[in-house]
Amino acid sequence: MRHFLTFEDFSKDEIFEILRLAAEIKKEAKAKDYKPYLKNQTLAMIFEKSSTRTRVSFETGMYQLGGQALFLSSKDIQLGRGEPVRDTARVISSMVDMAMLRVYKQSDLEEFAKYSAVPVINGLSDYLHPVQLIADYLTMQERASGDCVAYIGDGNNMAHTWISLASILGFELRIATPKGYEADASIVAQAEKNAKISGAKILYTHDPREAVCGVDVVTTDTWVSMGQESEKERKVKQFEGFCVDKDMMSLAKKDAIFLHCLPAYRGYEVSDEIIEAHAGDVFSEAENRLHGQKGVMVWLDRHRGN
Ligand code: CP
Ligand code: NVA
Repeated sequence: MRHFLTFEDFSKDEIFEILRLAAEIKKEAKAKDYKPYLKNQTLAMIFEKSSTRTRVSFETGMYQLGGQALFLSSKDIQLGRGEPVRDTARVISSMVDMAMLRVYKQSDLEEFAKYSAVPVINGLSDYLHPVQLIADYLTMQERASGDCVAYIGDGNNMAHTWISLASILGFELRIATPKGYEADASIVAQAEKNAKISGAKILYTHDPREAVCGVDVVTTDTWVSMGQESEKERKVKQFEGFCVDKDMMSLAKKDAIFLHCLPAYRGYEVSDEIIEAHAGDVFSEAENRLHGQKGVMVWLDRHRGN
């Protein structure tokens, strides 16, 4: 049985297999040919944090695959009152076929997976957001955008996941963060090891202009992730010069695409003008959450090892 907690557990071929499956299922869905790949299965969705895209895409995706999804806010289940993660995992996984968790700590996901009888999916942690990157890369493939990517902003869960994916698939990535907001050292060290095999080129800089120069894809994320609300004032000051605006975007390739995992905060990490000019890219990316995750769930179901 496999879990989808981090790209580090997957080979390059397996990631491309998930992407192919997602594209195939998307094509079928666009033709209203909803194949019941997960007929009668139930997905438990545990949320410790807010969500629009993750909740709607997993719930709708599971329904379209012939199954159903349970929305479980951690506030409303005993987990939120201190029931241990391992007990929650043993109980819930005895009743459902798959589980998706959005949590603060990556280690909670790992503990849940350790005690779970069913595949577990990372629906975002403070450390990683891999289902988002499946949607992002699917969008790049559809746009045939080229895969030299600049990520401008906070060295957060999105930056980490871009680093991990680039290092495994072997594409060029430039990460520009303000001083003091660099990506986690352990992600960077692992990526260095991966890059020796994949040939990925990853640049870390504090200069967003250096990063975007000539790239195919420009991407960013909020400066204030969920749980960091009290840091907003300080971060906004320290991220001055990191807004992806027209000037910055003009340094990328002429036909470069712009991606944002959303929610976006206009006037902070991206200007209103840029997000509106690239609404076609950004909202296809958001829709691809649905198709990408259907690919992930069907892939996991096919690798249960029974
Ligand atoms: N991008 C993303 O995960 O969105 P939500 O927080 O709305 O799920
Ligand atoms: N970095 C953001 C991503 C939201 C999808 C956060 O963790 O809040």
